[in-house]
Amino acid sequence: MRTLYATVAITLLTASTLLNAAVYKGQKAYIESCKECHGGGQALAGSKKQRAWIKMMDNNGEKLAQVHLNSKKAEPSWSYFNSRAYTKNTKHLEDFLVDYASDSGNVPACN
Ligand code: HEC
Repeated sequence: MRTLYATVAITLLTASTLLNAAVYKGQKAYIESCKECHGGGQALAGSKKQRAWIKMMDNNGEKLAQVHLNSKKAEPSWSYFNSRAYTKNTKHLEDFLVDYASDSGNVPACN
C-alpha cells in the first residue's frame, strides 16, 4: 500500500512539473540567456508596456536583437542574438515579457 501511495505521489509531481515547464518556457529562456546581464526577468518585463514588448519582439525579435547587436557593451550576447537558439525562442520570450509587462496586471504587489 505504501508503495502505491508513493507511486501516485511521484506521478502527480511529474505531471505538474511538466505543466510548469510548458507555462514557463519563456521564463526559462530568459533565465538561460538574459539573466546574467539583466537580473530578474519580472523586473525587466515590468519595465515596459505590453505594446512595447510586442513591437520589440516583432519579426522574430528583430528589434531586441538590434538593440544588442548595436551595443558594444552587449558584445558577449552577440553570438546568441545571431543564433537560431534566439529566433527559436522569441515567441516564448515575448509571451513571458508580455505576461509580466507593466500594464499586464501581473506585476508583484510590492511595485
Ligand atoms: C551580455 C549581456 C546581455 C545579455 C546576455 C542580454 N542583454 Fe539585453 N542589454 C544589454 C546591454 C548592455 C543593453 C543596453 C544596450 C544599449 O543601450 O547600449 C541591453 C538592452 C536591452 C533592452 C533594451 C532596454 C530599453 O529600454 O530599450 C532590453 C529590452 C533587453 N536588453 C532585453 C534582453 C533580453 C530579453 C535578453 C535575453 C534574450 C537580453 N537582453 C540579453 C546586455 C545584455
